[in-house]
Amino acid sequence: MGFRDKFKDADKALTFNDVILLPGWTTLEPNEAIVQSKAARGLTLNAPFISSPMDTVTESEMAIALARQGCMGVLHRNCSAEEEVDMARTVKRAEAVIIRDVVTVNPGTTVDELLGLMEEHRIHGFPVVENGNKLVGIVTWRDVRLADSNLKVGDVMTKEVVTGTEETSLDEAKKLLHEHRIEKLPIIDENRRVKGLMTMRDITLKGTYPDAVRDEEGRLVCAAAVSPFDLDRAKALDEYVDVIFTDVAHFHNKNCFEATKKILKEVSAEVVVGNIGTYQAAEDCLTKLDGVAGLRVGIGSGSICSTSVVTRAGAPTLYAASQAADAVKDYGSDVPIIADGGIRNPGDIAVALAVGASCAMMGNVFAGCSESPGRLVALEGRYYKEYYGMGSPKARKRRFVQDRYSQPSKAISEGVEGWVPYRGQVSDILSEFEGGLKAAMGYVGARTIPEMWEKAKLALVTERGAQEIAPHDILLPGSNRNP
Ligand code: XMP
Repeated sequence: MGFRDKFKDADKALTFNDVILLPGWTTLEPNEAIVQSKAARGLTLNAPFISSPMDTVTESEMAIALARQGCMGVLHRNCSAEEEVDMARTVKRAEAVIIRDVVTVNPGTTVDELLGLMEEHRIHGFPVVENGNKLVGIVTWRDVRLADSNLKVGDVMTKEVVTGTEETSLDEAKKLLHEHRIEKLPIIDENRRVKGLMTMRDITLKGTYPDAVRDEEGRLVCAAAVSPFDLDRAKALDEYVDVIFTDVAHFHNKNCFEATKKILKEVSAEVVVGNIGTYQAAEDCLTKLDGVAGLRVGIGSGSICSTSVVTRAGAPTLYAASQAADAVKDYGSDVPIIADGGIRNPGDIAVALAVGASCAMMGNVFAGCSESPGRLVALEGRYYKEYYGMGSPKARKRRFVQDRYSQPSKAISEGVEGWVPYRGQVSDILSEFEGGLKAAMGYVGARTIPEMWEKAKLALVTERGAQEIAPHDILLPGSNRNP
């Protein structure tokens, strides 16, 4: 093969703007479309939207908000392992049917110490235990708010405690809490040992968020990113998270594979690997990494990426999704594909699903929400939120993500820093995205996401065509361009 043949054999690395979904025969109305989809082999979301593990996108608040709406956030790793574990714990404690890691006190604890614990854990009621976790009382804010700070918990606690057992159903618990006008129901075993805690707050929240995705214990689903080389962090997170994402820009790398094998062996959470961009990479993940639960695909398409500018290397998300999907199909696997980077609207997600993706990961879209950790700033009379790439100089200053883009020896930046328009609450964005996606599925005639894989047909758009399919020949409010 000559060098010139490289042009002849070059693949077409198509991106979202290059294609359009062809409308097909349809028997359904858009609101009948079902957007449930898998984020990992054993985890189904009620809508296929996932937030990026970036420190201007996903911390506990975003992860909680997304899980409550049926989606998922991936906690970023640009912090110490303890801080990331803490974020995961916060997500898991946000609501539960039965809280398992119950904070308890002893009768000998002073009121002063108790007030300190209330502040530290941001909770207002504790079961009181002695002799190997045996329940002897319950103490709440009401018992201590006016009490002398030198008194002991044993002096002020309520000794007659209403309790439940592992068999108590949600409805029974609700009835008990209501009848006795109480907020907390300790769950005990036959020896009165505390096994958990049910709270009015959690039960009410369950009704408030009927679409939430929860684990077996009724806690919100949570995912977190790790470097493939940080086995200790993965093990520490494993107690709290449902999914671990290995988080590197170019996962198809021998060292990453070897390190990930250890993680796969040591953790019980599902492990999604990435990012990858080619058929060969997906094939290697499926055949060399036993137990992989998902593939995160797309290299260099992100709105804050400068990887492809700096290195001319990359695999646009749409192209990467189609490549990985073919490998998954050829190997008869059911590993879901998460399309990551460059997604701006529901239409981009629809075409990613059309080429075999199961979910979409977004940074830019979610960075603009009130639940993201980025700073809110006012610029020329409008609100924006700070957003930067994890390979940008700003992110790299915090040493924890240096290995995502390079070993510290490779001193280049692969991301930029800036602001995105403030978009309000994540729940509003999600309904807009869900509505848009269902409309696209309506055009295709696909009732479910697997039907999108089968039925959706694409056409290529020329550069001039791309201009025509966007609003044109009209003066839009806020624009100073003549039609
Ligand atoms: P969007 O387009 O949603 O993309 O903002 C988010 C995704 O971009 C990736 N990411 C980066 N890629 N340099 C890169 O080349 C970076 O600094 C960078 N930071 C994030 C990541 O996959 C994310 O989910």
